[in-house]
Amino acid sequence: MLQGLLGIEDLTREEVQSILDRARDFQPGGEGHRFQKFDILRGRMVVNLFFEASTRTRTSFEIAARRLGADAVSITASSSSVSKGESLVDTLNTLAAMRPDAIIMRHAASGAPHFLQRYLETPIINAGDGTHEHPTQALLDARTILDRGARLEGLRVAIIGDIAHSRVARSNVYLLSKFGADIVLCGPPSLLPRELAQLAPGVSLTNNMDEAIRDADVIMMLRVQLERQHEAAFPASEYFRFYGLQLDHLRLAKPDAIVMHPGPINRGREISSEVADSQKSVILNQVENGISVRMAVLERVLTSQATAARN
Ligand code: CP
Repeated sequence: MLQGLLGIEDLTREEVQSILDRARDFQPGGEGHRFQKFDILRGRMVVNLFFEASTRTRTSFEIAARRLGADAVSITASSSSVSKGESLVDTLNTLAAMRPDAIIMRHAASGAPHFLQRYLETPIINAGDGTHEHPTQALLDARTILDRGARLEGLRVAIIGDIAHSRVARSNVYLLSKFGADIVLCGPPSLLPRELAQLAPGVSLTNNMDEAIRDADVIMMLRVQLERQHEAAFPASEYFRFYGLQLDHLRLAKPDAIVMHPGPINRGREISSEVADSQKSVILNQVENGISVRMAVLERVLTSQATAARN
């Protein structure tokens, strides 16, 4: 079976480090601050198969593939034959018959890419599966933290919001924990399952936002995922009063703390506009790093595939 990227949990610290190091090589530089174009994956093809909405992940995978010289095709749920009743396995087998070198996949069901990879030789890159993992998001988050000159070891990272439904939180916990960071997960009791304290070493939980932010190096805000909630949601104003990040909160964090958010952001719900647009915010740096990190991931997956085929 050829190797894709299904999650951070299965990677070693060295593998994570090597992707982060390679992503730095792909960051924009020189005149015009543009992403350079390479021939590394010339003649290769990737398929983006998204069963959930996406702006950042889908676009940046497409740009990343093209910057490396590969062809990229994008398919959404509404434009695929799943909308006509075709099963997911049949859809994936159909796409695999067209011989792409990798399938990049987002799906609302946790574990969908893992299940499908058992039936498919084409490597799958997980672009977010339900509430489980979003590995390239955690990689680009780590690249963004490192770009500020910080070390992951001993870093205090507060992840605040709808932890229960967040694949971003899970992938970040797995990644940061491999590097010995202190991770504080914070949210209302209904969105912060107690068992998450056992997810990885270095994780603690609190329902108190001030406590989470105090002395934090990184404040990572999360959107409330209304689309995954089955019970009545908090009214927006009430949620913002207790768990919305405002300028006053930043005084509790370390002086050089940064504010992150995987996006899409909901201004006035989990983050104020003043914070989102402040000097502390690295939200758009995260978006930019999405391209270099996904270039590193595509190179790793597609070139290891070529090596495996030769052996
Ligand atoms: N962070 C993230 O996954 O954004 P999109 O849903 O826009 O891809």
